[in-house]
Amino acid sequence: MTSYQVQTGGKLYIAGEYAILNPGQTALLINIPIKMTGQIEDHSDFVIYSDMFDYCVGLEEDKNYKFIQAAIETMALFMGKKVTDLPAFKLTINGKMEANGKKYGIGSSGSVTVLTIKALAVFYNLKLTKDLIFKLASYTLLKLGDNGSMGDIACIAYDDLISYRSFDREMVKSWLVDKSFEEIIQADWHYAIQVIKPQLAMTLLVGWTKQPSISREMIIRVKSKINQSFLEKIEKATLICQKSLEAGDKNKFITSLESLSNLLNNLDQSIYHPKLRQLKEASLGLDSVAKSSGSGGGDCGIAFTFTKQAEKEIKTRWAEDDIELIYQKSWGTYD
Ligand code: PMV
Ligand code: MG
Repeated sequence: MTSYQVQTGGKLYIAGEYAILNPGQTALLINIPIKMTGQIEDHSDFVIYSDMFDYCVGLEEDKNYKFIQAAIETMALFMGKKVTDLPAFKLTINGKMEANGKKYGIGSSGSVTVLTIKALAVFYNLKLTKDLIFKLASYTLLKLGDNGSMGDIACIAYDDLISYRSFDREMVKSWLVDKSFEEIIQADWHYAIQVIKPQLAMTLLVGWTKQPSISREMIIRVKSKINQSFLEKIEKATLICQKSLEAGDKNKFITSLESLSNLLNNLDQSIYHPKLRQLKEASLGLDSVAKSSGSGGGDCGIAFTFTKQAEKEIKTRWAEDDIELIYQKSWGTYD
């Protein structure tokens, strides 16, 4: 009996949200190692189970299982076979990326899509690069009509701190009707994904507001407000943010994140949900910087601290405001 286990994590945006929805823009994202696990084994027929739901399915269409089923479909295309002609498996997925029934908002739909691709790759003995996993997962989501930038997929596929330059999704979507699967996967989509190594001594704190927000709806609400000036300002600040991280320039890093935060705050009032405002205000007067992350409207926000005292104080302030620290990561050592 063959059985394999694979894992994927979550992601959070550091810089470039909303602007990244336009082709050629840059965003910075960090992997969040709160894991989802997939177990895949030989089985007489296809059985898929996720702990998000209280039932399992086969290959018959099921709305709740659409990401997993669509990823299986993509992998069958990749192998040039019909799903039903492939050796059957049982795929069990655990790790909900939530607490008390409320999602963290760290990318569970992207994570489950990448996880399914990774699970089928080990099961059918295919060697996939991170880049190919990104393309296969993006193809799957585009086919499903996802309206996101695929930055989440890039970060989850690379499982690292990355800079992502977006491709033209309308262009790739148009290929779905006039190009073959092989042509689409082989084509140059003109995106770029690069791993970043920060040279600053700092700690990232991830605060969860416990207010679930739906990115798809936030995008629909905010999208029409994105104009050329916003795109240019975000791009400039995001590139400064990346450069200052890599060069270890703390002051520039802080000012770039502050301007990114202000630009988001001015874009639409729903982004800075009152809990995210509290989360950000907790960084005031401390050697730190904080902002919303991703679409905003709830979910998580982030803070970077540069001293032990700032780290401690933000944690205290967040706790007082019922903002839960769900993850932290340090680079270098301070104090
Ligand atoms: O809320 P999140 O972490 O899913 O991030 C959404 C970020 C947007 O730029 C608003 C949309 C996207 O898909 O990039
Ligand atoms: Mg979100």
